[in-house]
Order: sequence, then C-alpha cells, then structure tokens
Amino acid sequence: MNRILSGIQPSGSQHIGHLVGALDNFALLQGQGQAFYMIADWHALTSKYESVSEIWPATQELTATFLAAGLDPSQATLFVQSLVKEHAELHLLLSMVTPLSWLERVPTYKEKLQNAQADLGSYGFLGYPLLQTADIIIYKANKVPVGEDQLFHLELAREVVRRFNFLFQREVFPEPDAVLTKTPKVPGLDGRKMSKSYGNCIYLRDNPATILEKCTRQMASDPARVRRTDPGNPEVCPVFEFHKLFSDEATVATVATECRQAGIGCFDCKKRVAEAITRRVEPVRERIEDHLARPDTIADILRDGSARARAVAAETMADVRDAMQMPSL
Ligand code: TRP
Ligand code: SF4
Repeated sequence: MNRILSGIQPSGSQHIGHLVGALDNFALLQGQGQAFYMIADWHALTSKYESVSEIWPATQELTATFLAAGLDPSQATLFVQSLVKEHAELHLLLSMVTPLSWLERVPTYKEKLQNAQADLGSYGFLGYPLLQTADIIIYKANKVPVGEDQLFHLELAREVVRRFNFLFQREVFPEPDAVLTKTPKVPGLDGRKMSKSYGNCIYLRDNPATILEKCTRQMASDPARVRRTDPGNPEVCPVFEFHKLFSDEATVATVATECRQAGIGCFDCKKRVAEAITRRVEPVRERIEDHLARPDTIADILRDGSARARAVAAETMADVRDAMQMPSL
C-alpha cells in the first residue's frame, strides 16, 4: 500500500502552474494509496516571520484550493503542519544525527540565502529541508509528489533515513521516492518559469476578464514574428506552450499550421488561449470562492484531517522513541 505525502507552503495565491503541476497529480494519487496533503505553515515562517498575519488566510485559501482541485477529505488527509506537533519532535531528533554539512551543501540553500527578499539567515531556514524530511518520514511515506526543484530535498530525506535506520539498527523509516508530474512545466506570461516573484502568473482566482487581459497584453509570443504577415514558429512561442497544455488537440493542430503560414494573428491566437485557460480555470475559481465563503467548514476539515494525521504521526514517534531507547513512561 502506498503512503503518499506532499505539502505546499501557505505563502500566497496558487497559480495555474500549481494546478497542472501539483494539484492534478495530488488528486490522481489520492486514489492510489493513503494520501496526506499538508499545509506547511511552519515552512512558510522561514520567509514570512515578519508577516505572520498572512499565513492563516493563505492556509484557508490553500485548503479551498485543494478542495476545488478535487482533493477529497474522505479519501485524502488534508492537514496543517503546525497542528501536528510530532513533526517538531521528529525534526529535533533528526537534527541530532544530521551533519551540518549535509544541510549547508543543499544547492538551493546558498542560492536562496542570497537572492531572497527576506533575510533568510535563520537557524530555521538552514533546517528547512530537515523539517521537510520529518514531514515525509513521520508518515512512513514512500511516494512524494513534488516538482523538480524539490529533488535535492528528497535526496537529503533519503540520506537521513539511511543514517537513522543504520544508527539505531532498525528499519523504522522507508526511503521516500519523488513522484514527478508528467505534465510539462507551465511557463509564465513572459516565458520564464511561472513564479509569484516574477509577476508573471495567471492565478486560479483570476476572473475571465483578467485572464483575457493577461493573455492578450502580457503573454510573450515568437519575437521573430513582428508583422502580422510574418510567419511564426510555434515551437519557440510561449503562447503555443499554453495551447498544448490547455487547448483541445484540434485547436493545437490548427494553431500550429496557421501560425507557420501567418494565417492566424498573434492577438487572435492569444484570445483563443485565454478561452482555453478560462474553460479549465473558471470552474476551479468558482469552487474556491464557494469554499472560502464557508470558513467554518474549512476549519472542520482541517481539524479533522489534522487529528487523523496526528494519530499516524504519534504511532511513528512511538517507534522512534523505542528505537532510540527513550522510555514512554
Ligand atoms: N518545500 C516544499 C515546497 O516549497 C513544501 C513542503 C514542505 C513539502 N514539506 C514538504 C513538500 C514535504 C513535500 C513533502 O514546495
Ligand atoms: Fe505564437 Fe500564436 Fe503568434 Fe504563432 S500565432 S507566434 S503560436 S502567438
């Protein structure tokens, strides 16, 4: 039986990259084992410690988004990290057996340290991937759906598992595997990776007018196609990437031929892509708004999910304490 765990930080609104890159995969996997989907509010603190007032609203929005994307609380356990304090206990124990150099050499660490807006020179930020390790292994998860940017963290988790099991001579934890999505990466409006910090996102809560406006005015197209009569090359055009992700096959084929023959103008092409994105996103947006209008239900779902998660985490901690010869008096 698969144990699946993944988490997302509540540090801002979700965009269409999250939907096709992560949430669709979460929804698919929830039927293939016992799935735990966590809102990583402690992780969000590593960068949001000066704006804690944003974290609970973002947690509610992320829960609404989980539900809108098809995560079903009767199938998957949806929970809040800070409500399962066992993660903190395991993180502390792992911190005793993890060489500092393993954390310092995580490639994302130094890079983010230098580039982020917030001062990330905290103890907690260095320990970020170790807390993530605790999140995963406390559920003895073997499958972790994540993006490519998380592969180093997963590698660290595997190393920590090996070290723990070896030190305490017990197979307490399985080595977790990353599950990458089969969907190609969603580019941002400017052709770079879609990311809040680049200001190039289409958000799941954008209404159809905003989507149309972003697609027609901000989306980059083939730079070589200057005049309407110039033929274009869809293979180098970000708009075409969106068609491949959101339009039906017939539209993708038509756009590809027409673009090469200068049969379709870029403006019309972008309008069509906006329609395709809207068809996919609008029902999600409506469901997010419906769920957000019922904060009590969101709280109930999180309370219930966190209690279920805690029961599993507490069981693992009993094994851990036993392996480490700490009595549960
Ligand atoms: N670091 C992940 C991210 O930024 C979020 C996360 C926290 C996570 N804990 C996790 C992902 C455990 C997978 C498993 O996307
Ligand atoms: Fe890109 Fe479409 Fe313009 Fe071709 S017609 S260059 S695919 S926006």
